[in-house]
Amino acid sequence: MITNRTQTTLARQAEDKLFIPVPARITKVESLTALEKVFTLELPDGISLGHRPGQFVEVSVYGIGEAPISISSSPSRSNGSFEVCVRKVGDVTGALHKLEPEARVGVRGPFGRGFPIEKFRGKDLLFAPGGLGLAPLRSLINQVIDERAHFGRVIILYGARTPSELLFKDELKQWGERIDLEVLLTVDRGDDTWKGNVGVITTLFRFISIHPRNTIAITCGPPVMYRFVLMELLGKNISEGNIYLSLERRMKCGVGKCGHCQINNVYACQSGPVFPYNEIKGLEEAL
Ligand SMILES: Cc1cc2nc3c(=O)[nH]c(=O)nc-3n(C[C@H](O)[C@H](O)[C@H](O)COP(=O)(O)OP(=O)(O)OC[C@H]3O[C@@H](n4cnc5c(N)ncnc54)[C@H](O)[C@@H]3O)c2cc1C
Ligand code: FES
Repeated sequence: MITNRTQTTLARQAEDKLFIPVPARITKVESLTALEKVFTLELPDGISLGHRPGQFVEVSVYGIGEAPISISSSPSRSNGSFEVCVRKVGDVTGALHKLEPEARVGVRGPFGRGFPIEKFRGKDLLFAPGGLGLAPLRSLINQVIDERAHFGRVIILYGARTPSELLFKDELKQWGERIDLEVLLTVDRGDDTWKGNVGVITTLFRFISIHPRNTIAITCGPPVMYRFVLMELLGKNISEGNIYLSLERRMKCGVGKCGHCQINNVYACQSGPVFPYNEIKGLEEAL
C-alpha cells in the first residue's frame, strides 16, 4: 500500500501502464500573458512525478484529448506537485485554459530525455530561451539555482516578441537581482514601458564574453530561432557536443510507439526532446 508521497514516482511506472493517464488535481492556475497560463498539478497521494528538467508529460483534458507539455517546475521544488506552462493554441490547450482549481486532468509521463545535469556540474551555463522556450528551461534554471555552488557562471539570455509576452516576469526580476546570475532580456518590439534591449535574441550575444571550453549552452524556442542562435554559439567556439537544444515535434503516444514524432530514423519523444547539437546536426529534418 502507498503510504507516503515519496514511495513511488510516475517515472517508474510499468511499460503496460504507459498509456493510462493518472488523474491529477489542478491546485493553482496563474495567468502569465494573454495566451499563457501556469497550472500547478498534484498527483494522487503517494505519487510524485520523478522528472528530470527537459522532460514532458502528456496532459489530457477528459473528453477532448491529450497534448505533450514540458514540465516547467524544477524537481528540486516538486513537493508532490509540478507546474506546466500552457499556451492556448487549439482544442486541448483551449479546454485546459478553461479549467479552474480543483478540476482534474490526466497525466502520463514523464517522458523523453531531459538535460544531463550531472554533465553540467562545474561548467559555466549559457541559457538562451526564446518565447515559450523558457517554460522547459525554467525547470533546469531553478534546479541550477537550488544547487548553485556546483556550477560556474550562469548566464540567461531571454527574448520574447513584446514586453507583454515575456513569461515568468516576477521570476525574471528575481533572477536579475541575484549577483550570481547574469540575466539579459530583449524584445523584438518595445513599447513605452520597455527600457531594455530591442532586437531578436541574437542581439544579446554581443554583450557577453564566455570561456568556450568550459561553457555548456542550452537553447529552446521557436524553430526559426535555432539556426541563428546556433550560429552565435558556434561563432563563440562552443563545441557542438556542448550545445543542447530541445526539439518539439508533433507527438501522440510519447513513448516511441506511434511514429508521429519521427525525425529521419529518430523518435524525438524518446531520444529527445533534448539533444546535444552534434547528435542531430546530420539529421536533415531536425532543424
Ligand atoms: C515535447 C513537447 C513539449 C511541449 N511543451 C509545451 C509547453 O510547455 N507548453 C505549451 O503550451 N506547448 C507545448 N508543446 C506544444 C503543445 O503540445 C501543442 O501546442 C499542443 O499539442 C496543441 O494541442 P491543441 O489540441 O491545443 O491544438 P490543436 O487543436 O491540435 O492544434 C492547434 C494548432 O497548433 C498546431 N500544433 C499542434 N501541435 C503542435 C506541435 N507539437 N508543434 C507545432 N504546432 C502544433 C496545429 O497545427 C494547429 O495549428 C510541446 C510540444 C512538445 C512536442
Ligand atoms: S510520439 Fe509516438 S513515437 Fe514519438
